[in-house]
Amino acid sequence: MRSRSCRPPNAVACGSAADALPGAPPHLGVGDGLNLPGRARTRRRRSVPAALLLLIALLIQGCDRSNSSGSGTRPLVVGFSQVGAESAWRTAETQSIKEEAAKRGATLKFADAQQKLANQIKAVRSFIVQNVDVIVIAPVVETGWEAVLTEAKEAGIPVVLVDRGIEVRDDALFATLIASDFVEEGRMAAGWLAERTAGKARIVELQGTTGSAPAIDRQRGFAEGIANHPGLKIIKTQSADFTRAKGKEVMEAFLKAAGDEIDAVYAHNDDMAIGAIQAIEEAGLRPGEDILLVSIDAVRDAFVAMVAGKLNATVECNPLMGPILFDTIEQIRAGAAVPKFIQNQDELFDQSVAAELIDSRKY
Ligand code: AHR
Repeated sequence: MRSRSCRPPNAVACGSAADALPGAPPHLGVGDGLNLPGRARTRRRRSVPAALLLLIALLIQGCDRSNSSGSGTRPLVVGFSQVGAESAWRTAETQSIKEEAAKRGATLKFADAQQKLANQIKAVRSFIVQNVDVIVIAPVVETGWEAVLTEAKEAGIPVVLVDRGIEVRDDALFATLIASDFVEEGRMAAGWLAERTAGKARIVELQGTTGSAPAIDRQRGFAEGIANHPGLKIIKTQSADFTRAKGKEVMEAFLKAAGDEIDAVYAHNDDMAIGAIQAIEEAGLRPGEDILLVSIDAVRDAFVAMVAGKLNATVECNPLMGPILFDTIEQIRAGAAVPKFIQNQDELFDQSVAAELIDSRKY
């Protein structure tokens, strides 16, 4: 199922079975603990059975894990597997989470996956071995998560998804997803274009990373948004992986192939739109006039491009996840119920407000 359903979270209970031997290698079961050096001493005294001592130790470890969000015995330790640094948006998200961790005295173990699922899985496994308190993942793609999230669950480590959803059969594999509604972002972009062109335009689409939630959902939302406008047609669509360089490269190919036919660009993020603007200019055309552009993210450079008249509109996708992420982590650690999907609210900005708002933009 898509990870958007709202079910109560998988709260971590103090001393629960899920906390048994946190951080121990997978082959080390409860019985193996009886071979630890302290066991002989315990047996000689014959006062407290070894099994009881082990149980007490496990309960203390479990309580330590659930109480360490600031007021407990050690600082909260969070492992964060980030997609990469493919866009200005991504850099803003990373910075927000790092800053908030520092503000709250939490230790953040950061791993940049360079847009590869295999690197993310490796990072999550390493967080499990390091016995972090919480694992945060911004998943590069939607699928391929069952096995490693099952391992995290078995280790008793709650997982919080930020920004992108995943496809798993059992949504108890993660506590919550904090993100924007990508489908709605696509609809907003389509609505703006329909109005601006009176429902008539030949559109080229620059898609995000293949298999990622924002690429899938933004394509779907936009398709839904233009469905009632037979004059709005997507004539070319291709992935440009959310990067400026690929946005430029793919737009150059579109211009070469479709030349005069292109009326508008729909880009799944601002960075690809900015790359497309460069390609349009190099082709001797005026971005924002000869070819309209609408994209998603609302990063500072998009406002710069709108003020210059080169980008027509952008839909916000708020990357400033730090505060809400750490509030949510603290709630999970306290055993409070959190919704399965915590939605960021976004809005659309066009050229008419760009100059007025540019200085107030935080990313
Ligand atoms: O998942 C959010 C998307 O990923 C942003 O729109 C994009 O810029 C980023 O790379």
